[in-house]
Amino acid sequence: MAVSPPDVRAAVAESGALGATVRQIAERLGVGAAAVDLGLQGLARAGEVVRMGRGLWILRDYDHLELRDDFTEPAAYADRFEREERTPLGRYHGPITFRSNDGLPFHRWWPYVQGYSAEFVATLLRSARIGPGSTVLDPFAGSGTSLVEARRLGARAIGYELLAPAVLAARVKTDPDLDPDEFAREAGRLLRAARRAPLAPMPFLRETRRQFSRPALIQLRQIRSVLPPEGAGSVADALRLAFASTLVPVSRLRRSPCLGYDPVARDRPLPFVRYAQVVRTMVEDLTARTRSVDRWGPPAEVHSGDSRRIDLPPNSVDLAITSPPYVNGLDYVMNYKLDLAWLGYVDSYAELSALRTAEVACDNLPREATRDFLATDEAPDPWLREILPRIRENVARKGTYRRDDMHGIVHRYFRDLAEVLRGVLAALRPGGRFVLVVGDSLLAGTYVPGDLLTARIGRRLGFRIESVDVARGRRSGQRRQFALRESIVTLSRPAGRIP
Ligand SMILES: C[S@@+](CC[C@H](N)C(=O)[O-])C[C@H]1O[C@@H](n2cnc3c(N)ncnc32)[C@H](O)[C@@H]1O
Repeated sequence: MAVSPPDVRAAVAESGALGATVRQIAERLGVGAAAVDLGLQGLARAGEVVRMGRGLWILRDYDHLELRDDFTEPAAYADRFEREERTPLGRYHGPITFRSNDGLPFHRWWPYVQGYSAEFVATLLRSARIGPGSTVLDPFAGSGTSLVEARRLGARAIGYELLAPAVLAARVKTDPDLDPDEFAREAGRLLRAARRAPLAPMPFLRETRRQFSRPALIQLRQIRSVLPPEGAGSVADALRLAFASTLVPVSRLRRSPCLGYDPVARDRPLPFVRYAQVVRTMVEDLTARTRSVDRWGPPAEVHSGDSRRIDLPPNSVDLAITSPPYVNGLDYVMNYKLDLAWLGYVDSYAELSALRTAEVACDNLPREATRDFLATDEAPDPWLREILPRIRENVARKGTYRRDDMHGIVHRYFRDLAEVLRGVLAALRPGGRFVLVVGDSLLAGTYVPGDLLTARIGRRLGFRIESVDVARGRRSGQRRQFALRESIVTLSRPAGRIP
């Protein structure tokens, strides 16, 4: 059925600053996608609409969000922050993303893409004079970047992490009892046993057969059937980690940074080959470490628990350092579902969903998890009481946005973060610092200065804001031309009682 350009234009206009996809417009107008596509091409040639990232179309008037009356841009928040907090935004010039850890001993043991740079952590720990006798805390420990670096300097390292494969990675990387010779021997034995082993059951994930070639699937199931259980000692844990590290490289998937099918059909190693490679790398790093291990700190304490409920003794931590999940950022549970399922940490979609609810909020959160956060006047910072209603209005105006509780997700995110800040503050010694690497976001056509909000919420809870330094630029997934950033927020615990 044909559709008139004014109707298409009106449908795009209704979606406001958020934009709409061809499918959404077609549904709204009750016509076919091809007709809408044709209409949009014509309007685009006439300069009336433009296509943004993610296949969204918007009116050209909305292309420049910063020109709109209801849009507060990053620079305006930076000015306001400078005025209200008396802290100008600074710059950090060192490395920050995890990519720079790919080739580094220990850090390279598990393909985790959300970590931050080991070099950044090491530089910071050294400048804070962390060494034997100090205690370092990472409330979102991930794969253990901070813990490895803190131990390397002789410090006590404590981490909290909810994602079981990340806990495993952090524990194995910081385990002083893991002996390279014994590990190499047991890995060889495991591979020999796997070649003769029956096939273990498939994990519950629906797409398992699509994710792997037939030979890869057979070998993975053979390894799975001889894999030791969780908690059976240092070598057993290392054998399990090597299996986790085998999964994505032998699959048809990639993490870039979200887990998805690789558009390029590549030759993938088979699991037995890949497993042996992973073990060789780990053994190489362990063997090199044996020369300096005496100077390393005590075994890291990796709590498999929720950092909103940190229960460390007061004054027990010298420095906390972390990169929290970003607001509306990645769905960690989704991204590491292969590791969760194949290692038997999770046995059903219901369990995946429960884990997602326990994590700091992301936009795949089950709907019932935002129910208590839909009223916005309780938000932990006055800026949020302006930002959240704006998100709600933008979503309501469009109607077809994926979630109508988006403002509830953002609200819950900052409430979660406030709980973590509160727990860290209570554990820090006076003068101790909490350094967070955190980004800003563009959500539902609304700019959310996540870094500045983190600093402000910290200050309201009793921290002093030391600095906010922009470390690198990023691009919005929602709108490629919109520049976002990643910052280092440094807070400190003042002397005296916490309010
Ligand atoms: C950005 S990553 C941390 C990366 C880490 N710095 C590294 O280099 O490996 C954030 C981590 O926070 C974890 N997380 C989210 N909510 C949590 C919670 N409530 N308690 C503990 N960990 C949580 C996620 O599972 C994820 O691994």
